[in-house]
Amino acid sequence: MSVTPQVLAHQADAPEPSPEFLAREARGEITPTEASRYRAFLKRVVAEFLTHRIVVNNPFTRWFAQGQMSDDELRHFTVQFSVFSNQFLIAQLKKMLASDSIESMRGAKEILANEIGAVFRSSKARGSDVQRTDAGEAADPELVGIEGSVDGGRFWFKAAHFEWLVDFAQPLGLRFEDLGKRKHGTPSTLHFCDRLIEVYGSEDPNIGAGAGFAIENWAAAGFWQELEDGLKLVRAERHPKLQLGFWTWHNRIEAQHAGHTISDLEAAFFAPQFEEEKFLTGGRAMLEALSVFWRGLDADRVYSASA
Ligand SMILES: [Fe+2]
Repeated sequence: MSVTPQVLAHQADAPEPSPEFLAREARGEITPTEASRYRAFLKRVVAEFLTHRIVVNNPFTRWFAQGQMSDDELRHFTVQFSVFSNQFLIAQLKKMLASDSIESMRGAKEILANEIGAVFRSSKARGSDVQRTDAGEAADPELVGIEGSVDGGRFWFKAAHFEWLVDFAQPLGLRFEDLGKRKHGTPSTLHFCDRLIEVYGSEDPNIGAGAGFAIENWAAAGFWQELEDGLKLVRAERHPKLQLGFWTWHNRIEAQHAGHTISDLEAAFFAPQFEEEKFLTGGRAMLEALSVFWRGLDADRVYSASA
């Protein structure tokens, strides 16, 4: 399932709690006061996060999906995305260190470990995982699973998301040393990365949780699909050697996450330490920083087209 802008716009009129929430409410496990407090919060989240303009209307990714970018524009985009991809590791590590429970620390650690090369071990595929002895098939993003846990799984250098991005960039003439460092980032990309480190990686768990929800919801709302669509056109038309695994893997996993975001929100809201205003502040700050990143890329393409 993926969340489309239409679905979100519909939710803005009538935000719905998850089926699990409704069932718990029907069983009397949630008091009427708690339920109405949650519904009011959900309305704010929908209005401020789910229908935020950068989530439902991103001019850069809409343009990118048409596959009409020049090679220079594609290289510029790749380099900026690689900077974000690497700086995200710092933000994720900070989030992990700021965790307020062993469970949330494991959740954060799982994402970090997977980023750097620990593949998910699905209960369905345990037998074959154990048999594998080389990284070829096991680390191929076209084949690597999107379900399960890194717990008891295997680590491959080749399964690091950054290495997938390096493989993607190679036919475009970009080498490892052209990618991923702060020195390669534009001011708008670095602004986004710095806010990610500060807000998503905040020591205050409520601010971090709000930022995490905003990022997760952004990632689940369809931009990976637009990037994949554009890159498939580029590959078909002029770059047959492009390896799209970095993009297709993220698109697959985020489409799967889209169904979880409302349940995650409920779990955060009913946690004992939850503070609504801080959560909203964290989310708002993250979406603003995301807007700076995408608007920066959009301005760069408009500028290069008119130069
Ligand atoms: Fe990733």
